[in-house]
Amino acid sequence: MPKHTQCVHSGARKDKATRGLNTPIYPSSAFEYLDAPENIYPRYYNTPNERAVVEKLCALEGAEDGLLFSSGMAAISTVLLTFLGSGDHAVLQRDLYGGTYHFVTADFNRLGVQFSFTGSRAADIEAAIRPNTRLIYIETPSNPLLMITDIAAAADVGRRRNIVTVIDNTFASPINQNPLALGIDVVTHSATKYIGGHSDLCCGAALANAEKIGRIRRTAVNLGGSLNALTCYLLERSLKTMAVRVERHNRNAGQVAEFLCRQAAVAKVNYPGLESHPGHEIAKRQMHGFGGMLSFELDENRCPADRLLHRLKLITPALSLGGVETIICASAKTSHAKLSAAERRQLGIADGLLRLSVGIEDVEDLIADLSQALQA
Ligand SMILES: Cc1ncc(COP(=O)(O)O)c(C=O)c1O
Repeated sequence: MPKHTQCVHSGARKDKATRGLNTPIYPSSAFEYLDAPENIYPRYYNTPNERAVVEKLCALEGAEDGLLFSSGMAAISTVLLTFLGSGDHAVLQRDLYGGTYHFVTADFNRLGVQFSFTGSRAADIEAAIRPNTRLIYIETPSNPLLMITDIAAAADVGRRRNIVTVIDNTFASPINQNPLALGIDVVTHSATKYIGGHSDLCCGAALANAEKIGRIRRTAVNLGGSLNALTCYLLERSLKTMAVRVERHNRNAGQVAEFLCRQAAVAKVNYPGLESHPGHEIAKRQMHGFGGMLSFELDENRCPADRLLHRLKLITPALSLGGVETIICASAKTSHAKLSAAERRQLGIADGLLRLSVGIEDVEDLIADLSQALQA
């Protein structure tokens, strides 16, 4: 689903003073209020630079309204704290970004919020529902195993029981997947990843209908994780090329996944674009592209993961994902390092699992680098 026009044009505020094409940066934290239609203040999530980005993201995700945050975790924690309070219960997919998993396990008990981790099938989610369940949380494709949850089926469980459904759409990006159209109530993003796209911003977003965003805004104003004007401006700039970048990420990742499948030293490849992936048919239905993320396990007798990481020349071992450059990391030591070894085992995250964020370089160069490192 090409969205190049929205990426370039939606939300932009031309510079009336100079007729420049780009949204000016409005760095003020104090705005006059007499005779103004609303009080503007950075922590009220309503500055011009924030609104420009939100309007673009709303066009891309099919949302009525949204909020930007100073990190993906600020978006996720604010959304969870909006819909969950003492005595409530949440059902969460077990295969989640480590930071989200850690927030739930470290803080929910203290806050009096009950929770159940489940498998990602709608039947698993439904079986975990209790009379006091207020929220269902999914992440697909998931970090780091690229598991696929049927979004429409999960949304349907929530809709039938009047339970708010939330999805982390970071791995797919708004180009590859639009969960609101599939019935989900709230979409969150770590905009640090594909939306920022250049490994130089830290930010998050939540998108939904106006009623839900109104509720999230009331919590967000108190928690205060808003985003500054300069980062908002850089995010708007990044968004203009997001559709072009993501198309390229998709294409490169598909080719790298096929290459890895053919390598004797590679024991397993997780990529939803592969026909062998257990979630491939669902992914085909609900995604417009399969994304730039994949993970793989090595046959440690042939090529230990640590050796591969040290031998790569172009691909850089680094935290994070979704940037233009290809980076790789061992999930056990990065995104899921806060989990105990037993928790990681339960999630199926092997110590040797490597997560690859495939960039937009020439794919031949990426394959050549992996090839020399695997064979060395
Ligand atoms: C899927 C996913 N969700 C959320 C986050 C958290 O985002 P941030 O680091 O911007 O807080 C990450 C970070 O890696 C992630 O991979």
